[in-house]
Amino acid sequence: MSTHRSPDNSEWIDPATLPGFDEALSAAEATTMPPAAPPRKPRHTRKPRGFDAVGGMEDAKAEMRLALIEPLLDPEMAEHYGIEPGGRILLWGPPGCGKTIFARAAAEEARGATFLPIKVSDILGPHIGEDERNMTEIFRQARDQAPSVLFFDEIDALSPRRNDPHVWEAERRLTNSLLQELDGATNSRARVAVIGATNQPWLMDSAVRRAGRFDRLLYVGLPDLAARKAIWSLLVRSLPLGPDVCTATLAEVSAGLSGAEIAEAARRVRGIAFAEARARASVVDVRMLDFLLALRVTHPRSRTWLDEVPEEFARGESGVRHDRLAISRRAQQTRAERIEAAIDQWATGEVAGWEDPIGMAGLLSAAPIADDETHRPS
Ligand SMILES: Nc1ncnc2c1ncn2[C@@H]1O[C@H](COP(=O)(O)OP(=O)(O)OP(=O)(O)O)[C@@H](O)[C@H]1O
Ligand SMILES: [Mg+2]
Repeated sequence: MSTHRSPDNSEWIDPATLPGFDEALSAAEATTMPPAAPPRKPRHTRKPRGFDAVGGMEDAKAEMRLALIEPLLDPEMAEHYGIEPGGRILLWGPPGCGKTIFARAAAEEARGATFLPIKVSDILGPHIGEDERNMTEIFRQARDQAPSVLFFDEIDALSPRRNDPHVWEAERRLTNSLLQELDGATNSRARVAVIGATNQPWLMDSAVRRAGRFDRLLYVGLPDLAARKAIWSLLVRSLPLGPDVCTATLAEVSAGLSGAEIAEAARRVRGIAFAEARARASVVDVRMLDFLLALRVTHPRSRTWLDEVPEEFARGESGVRHDRLAISRRAQQTRAERIEAAIDQWATGEVAGWEDPIGMAGLLSAAPIADDETHRPS
């Protein structure tokens, strides 16, 4: 321990013996030597359930509630209004836009109902007649465990067009048995709701879409601006985020991407940030730049699907038109320019040592990328 002179310089005294020394020392330590930061723990947030796990799609959620979930939960009330207790909804749309997660979420919303998710492989078997038996058995289980939600994913594989010369006899019988079971479930007023999902409804037998069967088709298309913002918020909720990350901007520069493509960009972001954290051997915040770099190499792939939608389906569905505009060359060019401009601003900002390194203020006040609703074809 070092010693100091007294104020009048007459004697050596040990400062540790002065009154208030300990308090002064700890105050000094608090201001000059910040305590070592405790190791950062991962940000765990509660996993969202039901519709909370699905970003956007507010209209579809409302329709699913009204047509399928509520009648299942309150069949007596539904009966007063002539509403069947087991609704049917066929979800269709481009790949990766949330049909499967939406159907699962709907089943979770129907609290207390048994969820029976059916894959094509649960039905198709190698023996003659096995497919129809499996189909009958699945509907029987659904009735026994009612109220229940039956979910047929990729339902086009279970109901091929019977008048198609390329469709085998066994497949025709399978379509017949699905139709019969759907009719049976309706007639017995069973509390069995049925959701189907497909991205090729035009390959299905048209009888499946007749009244009393899947007469309600719900288009699940590319996420709009609000949905993209909600999806980004869900995807980044447990990441260590820097203060410059703005989900509104991310939503704008993700126009035309499907939910799965946004999730793919988010995976790239996590990879970039993890690599940097490993290089520095410490947890680093994810920056807006990481998102922009990931989005720069993530491109919409729905064009092929949208080109394949037959006129009969496209005509009745404004969502298809919006989606075609969202991935039009002009819209995507605008998106790419916007991302490059933001990356440039970030780089320039970093060199100049600006407080706002990626120029968020300028970025947000610049003309926004027109959203799906306002795009015009190029
Ligand atoms: N609205 C959304 N909210 C949150 N995540 C989404 C949304 N849409 C898509 N995703 C993400 O995309 C992934 C793929 O979605 P999903 O499997 O439901 O698509 P799909 O429409 O069923 O595709 P396919 O037609 O290929 O079966 C999900 O696991 C999720 O990570
Ligand atoms: Mg799916």
